[in-house]
Amino acid sequence: MLPGTLLPMISPETVDSRFKLDEKQAESLAQQFGTPLYVIDEAHFRHRIRRYIAAFQAAWPHSELTYASKANSTLGVLAIAASEGCLIDAASEGEFRAALAAGVPAGRCHLHGNNKSQKELAFAFENGIGQIVLDNFGEIELVADLAKSNPCPELVLRLAPGVDPVTHAKISTGQADTKFGFNLTDGAAEKALVRCLELGLPVVGFHCHVGSQLLDPEAQISGGELLAEFAARMLREHQFETRILNVGGGLGVHYTDSDNPMDVESYCQNLCAAIEQALQGTGLAPKLTQEPGRSLIAESGVTLYQVGVRKTVPSQKFGTRTYLAVDGGLSDNPRPVMYGSKYTVVPIRPSTEENQAFTISGKHCETDMLFEQVPLPADISEGDLVQVLCTGAYNSSMASNYNRYPRPCTALIRSSGEFALLQRQDTWDEMFTRESVPAGLQ
Ligand SMILES: Cc1ncc(COP(=O)(O)O)c(C=O)c1O
Repeated sequence: MLPGTLLPMISPETVDSRFKLDEKQAESLAQQFGTPLYVIDEAHFRHRIRRYIAAFQAAWPHSELTYASKANSTLGVLAIAASEGCLIDAASEGEFRAALAAGVPAGRCHLHGNNKSQKELAFAFENGIGQIVLDNFGEIELVADLAKSNPCPELVLRLAPGVDPVTHAKISTGQADTKFGFNLTDGAAEKALVRCLELGLPVVGFHCHVGSQLLDPEAQISGGELLAEFAARMLREHQFETRILNVGGGLGVHYTDSDNPMDVESYCQNLCAAIEQALQGTGLAPKLTQEPGRSLIAESGVTLYQVGVRKTVPSQKFGTRTYLAVDGGLSDNPRPVMYGSKYTVVPIRPSTEENQAFTISGKHCETDMLFEQVPLPADISEGDLVQVLCTGAYNSSMASNYNRYPRPCTALIRSSGEFALLQRQDTWDEMFTRESVPAGLQ
């Protein structure tokens, strides 16, 4: 944070705002759709988007919210986000196609990516994408070439502001040593703008995204501030008038009781105040955009599993350890294995037994320890259902068929309380349709 700027007023979210299933819902969903099952609550998701938009507009009236579809690009989820007024951020041609398939107008979509191919860019141009976020010098030339024969979408330069967020290294993106964007610190950002202006490209502003699951948002606020200062300098030195500043996503969520994310109202106020201060006296009045994913959808989703095996074994670490093996694992939630992520697991069947610590594992060949030392009633056993909270983001979108498990179904709880299917489980047929056994191998 730069001298003279407002310090963020840390105001953690005080209520547990995560969606949870009640026993009746869980039993009925498991019966209707099977387990493992991703569940999204429509009313919760809509409420979260409305709250974010209201907070953002209160802090910066000329603002727009974009939903980062990488968090969960199930078509129904995209349709809900778009119907609430969100633009859609696609990080690939596939995510852009998903938005189109969900009925989102191309003009309401943005294309990201640190290595967009000519083909991906051409697809975006031909389909009238609203905005492309440029990441590197080669891409500027590719876009200039495509713009000779197609109308060019508005362009924003992704900048690496050189701030180091407090989060897992694999989801830190704003530091100078990053594969993303044009560095502010080594002059690349200015050179990129100058090149776009020389080529007559319709650049409208700047973007940064410094990281994800940020419980301390100081890095994002500093990133926004540095972006605004850069905009002010580009006005002075190149008469470039910034019309859009996009400060990315990244606000953290409440995976466990030790996660205390800042509430969205304080976050927007602090972020916007820092940007306003940095723009003071410049005459610039850009539209501000943010593109959160996790903080919009994570808490609206749970995953329902059934316990298949309960096993107690000797353990050097704990004396004895009791495993509960559930009917999913790293193929439906790779985050514990990738990032050591922790989650809250809640039993479905009420019990009067005291809690004891369990290790929840999956079905995969690795020791796919999903959740370690989880407090659950001592009598939990085979056949019981458990729900894992806060799995709406980066679970279904990161799912795989590892060990040839079908990816789970996603059910939606409609605002009316009814259940609807968002995505069915993979079928065995489609698991093998991409493959062939060349002649002579059998
Ligand atoms: C460019 C960009 N924008 C937005 C997001 C969404 O971040 P989050 O889900 O933490 O809000 C990401 C996540 O990696 C990203 O890389």
